[in-house]
Amino acid sequence: MDQRPIGVFDSGLGGLTAVRQLRRIMPSENIIYFGDTSRVPYGNRSRDTILKYAREDTRFLRTFGPKAIVIACGTVSSNCLETLQEESDIPITGVVEPAVHRAAALTKNRRVGVAATRATVSSGAFARVFRRIAPEVEVISLPCPLFVPLVEEGRCRPGDVVIETVAEEYLSPLRDRGVDTLVLGCTHYPLLTEVIARTMGEGVALVDVGAESARACRDLLTARGALADREAGTSGYYTSDRAENFQRLASLFLGEDAAGEVQQIDLEQY
Ligand code: DGL
Repeated sequence: MDQRPIGVFDSGLGGLTAVRQLRRIMPSENIIYFGDTSRVPYGNRSRDTILKYAREDTRFLRTFGPKAIVIACGTVSSNCLETLQEESDIPITGVVEPAVHRAAALTKNRRVGVAATRATVSSGAFARVFRRIAPEVEVISLPCPLFVPLVEEGRCRPGDVVIETVAEEYLSPLRDRGVDTLVLGCTHYPLLTEVIARTMGEGVALVDVGAESARACRDLLTARGALADREAGTSGYYTSDRAENFQRLASLFLGEDAAGEVQQIDLEQY
């Protein structure tokens, strides 16, 4: 048993889709979440900048003495996971490998799409992991850079003509290539599940990277005998920009009200 918290971070609110799953499947765990909302999005930045930000995010989370850190961000996972793992004496997990395992298990026609940020697609991380785990799968990756700002603006519901138009523009090439499984390679995208499902049409399975990363974290802690043993865990939310903005949208991502638990911090202090 290990009562220390699990640290989770993302560039913004998207990683809360992983927290939602962590809470569901490991209700006894204490979770500390950091969303770097003053610098979101990461997905259009260079690898060097993403790594610099990710190191700072990790350093902040480490002040809570976590037993593990979950990178609930496709962009950071794709560009920096190995480097952060090499630098860390506690386990750090990302979203890519768990999502690839799931997609490889789901696809029947062995044609899988990956929708993600620019930095994720250009890192080639998903394609690399597919080649290692499921080389028979054809992978088609496409960047969808407008999805994150639209989600962070709350423009994610079916019937919203802006998000529906953008989704059609981005995803129609994947639909036309006949993928039967689509990895939502950014933790913001599960908020677009309904819009994306409609755009892709029936019979296309969607893989939520946040949910898969939560399951991978549970498997890791189980294997290490490091699950917590308490009635109910707590969640603490930290952000690098205004807490009110975070609070306003957090319930959308979490499916519960996060109000009253969000603190703004100055990363430079850490
Ligand atoms: N949630 C991040 C990801 O999974 C958002 C990317 C961004 O900040 O651009 O990639």
